[in-house]
Amino acid sequence: MKTTAELIADKRNGGVLSEEDIRRLISGYARGDVPDYQMAAMAMAIYFRGLSPEELGPWTDAMLHSGRVIDLSHLPDRKVDKHSTGGVGDKISLPLAPVVGACGVRVPMISGRGLGHTGGTLDKLESIPGFSTDLSVQSYIDQVASLGVALIGQTAEVCPADKRLYALRDVTATVESIPLISSSIMSKKLAEGIDALVLDVKVGSGAFMKTVEDARLLAETMVAIGERMGKKTVALLTSMEQPLGRMIGNALEVRESIEILRDEGPDDVRALTLALAEVMLELGEVDPRGAASALADGSALELFGRIIEAQGGDRRVCDDLSRLPSAKHRVPYIAKTSGYVSAMDTRRVGLAACVLGAGRARTDDVIDPGVGLEMACRLGDQVEAGQPLAWIYHNDAGVDAAQVHLDSGITIGESAPDVSGLILERIG
Ligand code: URA
Repeated sequence: MKTTAELIADKRNGGVLSEEDIRRLISGYARGDVPDYQMAAMAMAIYFRGLSPEELGPWTDAMLHSGRVIDLSHLPDRKVDKHSTGGVGDKISLPLAPVVGACGVRVPMISGRGLGHTGGTLDKLESIPGFSTDLSVQSYIDQVASLGVALIGQTAEVCPADKRLYALRDVTATVESIPLISSSIMSKKLAEGIDALVLDVKVGSGAFMKTVEDARLLAETMVAIGERMGKKTVALLTSMEQPLGRMIGNALEVRESIEILRDEGPDDVRALTLALAEVMLELGEVDPRGAASALADGSALELFGRIIEAQGGDRRVCDDLSRLPSAKHRVPYIAKTSGYVSAMDTRRVGLAACVLGAGRARTDDVIDPGVGLEMACRLGDQVEAGQPLAWIYHNDAGVDAAQVHLDSGITIGESAPDVSGLILERIG
């Protein structure tokens, strides 16, 4: 039997890990027998060497079976979830889950925290006063039965290997790996008890996949894993060439999500919410046209309020946004020259929010829920020197560093760029 160090060396040298070795490694890691420093080295070896299809199947399977695999087959209606590969300002899960739930498809959703420069659904939800994402599996099942929707995180019970590895990758520069992303996402999703899954695979400067080719490969890899496990899986490739919506930061994004649920809010967030909802409803065997009605008639907002209440949160935020945490200060980030917003390095914009306290640099960093950015420009906008390009919401930390990130995150040029559409491709 090989030691963990020998397995790391095998992968580092481009070897193929056996199914048995993979199972031992992942179960040992989930139990705490394999320490973080060895798993970090393995993750880096995989980052450079990848996993072959013969390794990726057992790797995903071992992650999935590191904890409990939930069975929701006793509940009527289809159970369909969505997962995003991660972006900047990507708050879509918050309005999406209640829209789909209000249409009669159950949404059992296990989400992640912020990763690298991207935000995480759990951190956003936890900015709602009192909201708990840490439900027991039984409470999660009960809530999917009673309300149709539950929004929780990886737990010690469900996908513990991903819970640990996800946090470790965040701080060891090992996120941007197709096998590690696909096994992380698919293990969590397959543990939830779903019938079908929609993946939002982000492409562009704010995504882990910078090119359509890489994003397509990631999407195809995940669709293949899902189908192999008997779950209908569809991926949409969507643009992350600029932040989604105006708000970046946890409570700020909850605010924008509630605006969408009030049938207001930015066009791109609404369009993507509806596009993903329509695919989820199609897979849930329900009329996809119900999604827009659930926004217009208030039923999605009403359900969001009930989810918040069921998970211990203050549902009054739905009517009164001032109940959400807010930063003490708001200052403008000003255009230094006139011209067109010709490019965005969206990752740098995400990092600007992180250094204010909206994300983590270390696994034990505490999130500041109120801080973040409000974007005041979009790609292609014509702007004048002195005009605010963004508003910085802060609590006296990180403002200078955020400005430095924004300096390289937003480029003013002489001409407007070609801006791609929001939804680029459907796979599956
Ligand atoms: N989302 C996940 O759940 N895992 C990853 O590795 C990346 C994005």
